[in-house]
Order: sequence, then C-alpha cells, then structure tokens
Amino acid sequence: MDHFDYKNGILSAEDVAISEIAEAVGTPFYCYSTATIERHYQVFAEALEGLPATICYAVKANSNLAVIKTLADKGAGADVVSSGELMRALKAGVPAKKIVFSGVGKTRDELAHALKEDILQINIESEPELHVLNEVAGEMGKKAEVAFRINPDIDAHTHDKISTGRSEDKFGIEWTRIHDVITRASKLPHIKIAGLAIHIGSQLTELQPFRDAFIRLRDIVAILRADGHAMTRLDLGGGLGIPYDDARTPSPADYGKVVKEVLGDLDCDLLFEPGRLIVGNAGILVTKVVYVKEGATRRFLILDAAMNDLMRPSLYDAKHNIVAVIEPNEGANLERVDVVGPVCETGDTFATELDLPAAEAGDLLAIRSAGAYGAVMASTYNSRDLIPEVLVKKGAYSIIRERIAAETMLSYENLPNWES
Ligand code: LLP
Repeated sequence: MDHFDYKNGILSAEDVAISEIAEAVGTPFYCYSTATIERHYQVFAEALEGLPATICYAVKANSNLAVIKTLADKGAGADVVSSGELMRALKAGVPAKKIVFSGVGKTRDELAHALKEDILQINIESEPELHVLNEVAGEMGKKAEVAFRINPDIDAHTHDKISTGRSEDKFGIEWTRIHDVITRASKLPHIKIAGLAIHIGSQLTELQPFRDAFIRLRDIVAILRADGHAMTRLDLGGGLGIPYDDARTPSPADYGKVVKEVLGDLDCDLLFEPGRLIVGNAGILVTKVVYVKEGATRRFLILDAAMNDLMRPSLYDAKHNIVAVIEPNEGANLERVDVVGPVCETGDTFATELDLPAAEAGDLLAIRSAGAYGAVMASTYNSRDLIPEVLVKKGAYSIIRERIAAETMLSYENLPNWES
C-alpha cells in the first residue's frame, strides 16, 4: 500500500497535489511519501516481531539524507557499501552500532573509515579482504568485528543482473570453503568473528530461494559451532521483491514466517538489509509529455524524463506502471503508445505498446515504484540535469535535493592549459 492516490481528480502524494509540486519545482522530479516509507518499515518490523532483529536499511536503494533520516527516526540501522554511504548514514543520525558495511571491493581507506567510526560489523567477502582488514585494524590498534558473507550457490530466480548467490557470481565466500576460512580467521589477532551473512539477490518474487539459503546457513552454523566457533549474529541480507505491475510478491509476514521456521531457534541476533521493500513503492518519477509523435507503426509519447533519470527499464527491462497525474474520466479513450525519453538511444524506453488514456503535450505523468534504485542510479548522460527530489509529509512538501543543473556540472570541467 502507498499514499499516492487521486484526490479531487489529481494524483496526490499524501495530501499534496503532484501538479502543485510540478508547478513549483519543474519536471521531471522524484517525489517520495513519508507515510509510505514509514508504513513499509513498520510492516517489515511487525513481520519480524518476536525475533532478535535489527533492520539495517540498505542505503543504496535511496540514499537521500532525508529518506535515511526518516528511517533512522523510526529506529532503523543502515547497510552501507561505500564511505559515501557511511557518511550519509551517520549524518542522518543512524547510530554507528547499527551500521553494517557490505560490498565486494572495500578499499583500505573504506575499511579504515568503518573502523574509525566503530560500526557494528564489516561483512567480509573474500580472503584477501580479510587479510587487508586484519592489517588495517592492526595499524589502528583495533579489533574488527566481522561477519563472513557466504555464497550458498542458490539461484534466486530474479533478473540475471541482480542475482548474487550463485557460484558464478562475484559475491561471498563459497559455502564449501567457509569452514576453512573461518578456522584461519579465528587465529588473526585483529579480527573478531560475529557470524555469517548472506544476500542472494534483489527483487525476489518467491520465498523458496530464501528458505533454501537460510537452511544452508543454519547447517553451516551447526558445523561451525560444533567446532567451537560461537556464531552469535546472522545477517540475512535484503532482496524481498515488490509488485511493480500487478504481479504478486510474497508478503513480509510470510517472509518473517520462513525466517522464524528456519532460524528462529538458533539463538543468534539477526540483521536484515531491506532496501527496495522499504522505499520502492514510496516514490514516483513525475514527468511531462513533450511531444506526441506519430511514427510509422507506433505512436510515441516523448517525455522530459529519460533513461538517465530512471535506468531500471533500460538496464533490467523493468516495467513500471505509468499513470496520468490528472485522473482520467471513467471510460476514457485508451490509446496504444510507446512511452519514451528524449535520449538518443532506442533503449531509452519506459514502456512499449501500453494502453494509456489519450495524452497531449504538456500532460503530466507519474512513473510509479521509482523510490528504490531511481534517483541513486541517475546520471548526467546527454548532459542532462540531475533532477530534484521532493519529500512529502501530510500536507507539506520539501525539496530534499535541489536540481543539479548541467551548467553546474560544466563548471567542474577545465580546459587543459598546455603551452601548445
Ligand atoms: N544487502 C546487500 C548486500 C545488497 O547487495 C543489496 C542490494 C541489498 C541488501 C538490498 O536489496 P533489496 O532489499 O533492495 O533487494 N539496481 C537494482 C538492484 C540492485 C540491488 C543491489 N544490492 C535494481 O534497480 O533492481
């Protein structure tokens, strides 16, 4: 459930008409709803009730400071994957002891940053990383608290590009080698082993792969404990999918049941790293139709938003629902259109052969479910602006990131002052 509904004939975010924001900030822009973010967090937290759980919001999904703060205020921790994200999480008020640092390629500087801030845990993805961390912690006179991310060789049945738990994927340490690695790690002077981590992919639409992965984790915990390793914390990653179109996805409650069934009696603290589930349906991308173009075989709605603003359709063939901001009359004529951006690539397409109420140049549209992996993945391709982000709370809205105009970007470029 989200808080983007038609009110008095105009799509509104909570109690604010989208057309009013469009008037003030210009299109395209991202618009997020506080109540929706808070609700999704709450629903996920309720699904885990009774478990010793900490929810570490995956900042990569939407790293706007105001979004992180909204969640921090509700008690969320953070899962970060770079020094930049760590900075953001701390600045937004997430306590260091609720921050986990993930990622396959953490640099020495990033590891040092994490140690300096005394975060809860660093997730180790390889042996080379483990040894570098041991060295860096040694230099700083610290002991690094870690979890080992295992690669369970399980197919999450999601898009190939966001599947992370198969043996051919770059993530984690092969589950068959984890015992050896942990045995060696336990002898390193600057490493403290807290437990294990897993994350098999994103936008999972089935529970079975989670169940399989959790069973593998439970079996490994049993083997390690039998060998004297304590294993007090399990990080179960993120990955629960959201309904982009009318597809059904597992409920957080059912996901929580699987966790309880498989891992509930292990006596481990549990960390969760949801990203998309919390913010995905809490955001829309608002855009204007620039032209309606009659092609040889198609009618095109050409928008002022493009693939550089929202990469997901071109990168993952994602299908986001598209709706008119002004509520169409009941029984309005539908026209079959391709919805495209202005960028010079055929891949700059948001939808093909979509039946939409007849639209004209100047009409506002909203591309839904754009709160996760939208603004954070935007680029300036074609020298386009980075578009504003707006957060709504009840009847108020606030620009939480200003437009970064092409002109500003250009001001960072220099012509070399070579002699000849
Ligand atoms: N934890 C780790 C270690 C991750 O790598 C990710 C996402 C998450 C948690 C959060 O996963 P979520 O709950 O959001 O599924 N750009 C892609 C998604 C990439 C996901 C990367 N890792 C997209 O737009 O679909």
